[in-house]
Amino acid sequence: MPDKNGFPHFMLKEIFEQPKALKDTIAPRISLQNGDVRIDSEVRISAQELRALRRINIVASGTSRHAGLAGQYMFQDLAHVFADVDYASEFEYRNAPIGPEELTIVITQSGETADTMAAQRLAHKKGSRSIAITNVVNSTVANEADGVLYTHAGPEISIASTKAFTAQMAVLFLLATYLAQVREQLSRDSSRRWIEELTALPEKTEATLRCAGTCRELADRYHRFGDFLFLGRAAHYPVAMDGALKLKEVSYVHAEGYPAGEAVHGPKAIIDEDLPVVMIATCDATDQGSKVRYEKSVSDMRAYKKQNARIIALASEGDKDVAQLADHTIFIPQAPELLAPILEMVPLQLFAYYVAVAKGLDVDRPRNLVKAVTQE
Ligand code: BG6
Repeated sequence: MPDKNGFPHFMLKEIFEQPKALKDTIAPRISLQNGDVRIDSEVRISAQELRALRRINIVASGTSRHAGLAGQYMFQDLAHVFADVDYASEFEYRNAPIGPEELTIVITQSGETADTMAAQRLAHKKGSRSIAITNVVNSTVANEADGVLYTHAGPEISIASTKAFTAQMAVLFLLATYLAQVREQLSRDSSRRWIEELTALPEKTEATLRCAGTCRELADRYHRFGDFLFLGRAAHYPVAMDGALKLKEVSYVHAEGYPAGEAVHGPKAIIDEDLPVVMIATCDATDQGSKVRYEKSVSDMRAYKKQNARIIALASEGDKDVAQLADHTIFIPQAPELLAPILEMVPLQLFAYYVAVAKGLDVDRPRNLVKAVTQE
């Protein structure tokens, strides 16, 4: 059993290992000089087949599926390939009409989740090629896949997945950039810019970890609340989903992740002083789409404050408007729209961790959960 390296729990240790996990996952696969991603020997599917792809099916369970949701935005934005995301446990029932022109990407930290394994086997039976993204070398899903991209996050012991999740999102970004290069959807300059942004992630994650003290104070203040609503738009929506899942997994508090734009069609009815709202309101000032979404999130917060909502917001460094509106604001280093979710996850992981600690719970071995569900 690995050591906790002086941390009280594996979950906290693994949260703080994310800068290294990201560096080990990204650095061996990029060339800053040439501005390209080098994963052909891992993907093991020809450029010709990748060019002929009509769509991508991402299949996974739990936190890995949330990484898949973030990947969906990356594949569609960078490689202009339609991407769909399935619950692995629902894949066979959806009976998707897939074949050789559809790539199946299976994401699984353990590589042994039965539903994900069954989904990959079904995809193969239908003639679809597969790429596995996993953290465990020689796991069943890895050994049965056509191509394998390992997350080099190191062993993940805590049942709630943290460093594997952010490493999965980094691998998905590498794969989307690679696909865009092979399909000539990305100029050399843009590709180089994205690789520079990827290279800066480990250091930005290190900086984001400095919010641990604030997250602990917020957990002390909010750990008695019984329900939370996490809201995010576009690529930030999967972060809202996993922020809610982390809180459910380790602190047994009911929490829901929801697309912020959808919340007005129902959940808005339950927002009041008893339902803290966690709003992901970061903004990539160089991205027009991001600025438009940001404005919508700010106007949502204004509306929820009129309902006496308690708002915990994630904002980009230097943002004064959100800090004035929200009850509490956690600042995230500036990052491009598609990569900011990797940084935004850190405070949500820390908040869930400190709520569980404040409640005196077994953080690493939450009740009724296992690290990998190996039976269907
Ligand atoms: C659950 C774990 O059993 O399986 C989650 O508790 C995890 O943390 C989910 O996200 C999926 O596991 P995997 O290994 O397929 O990513």
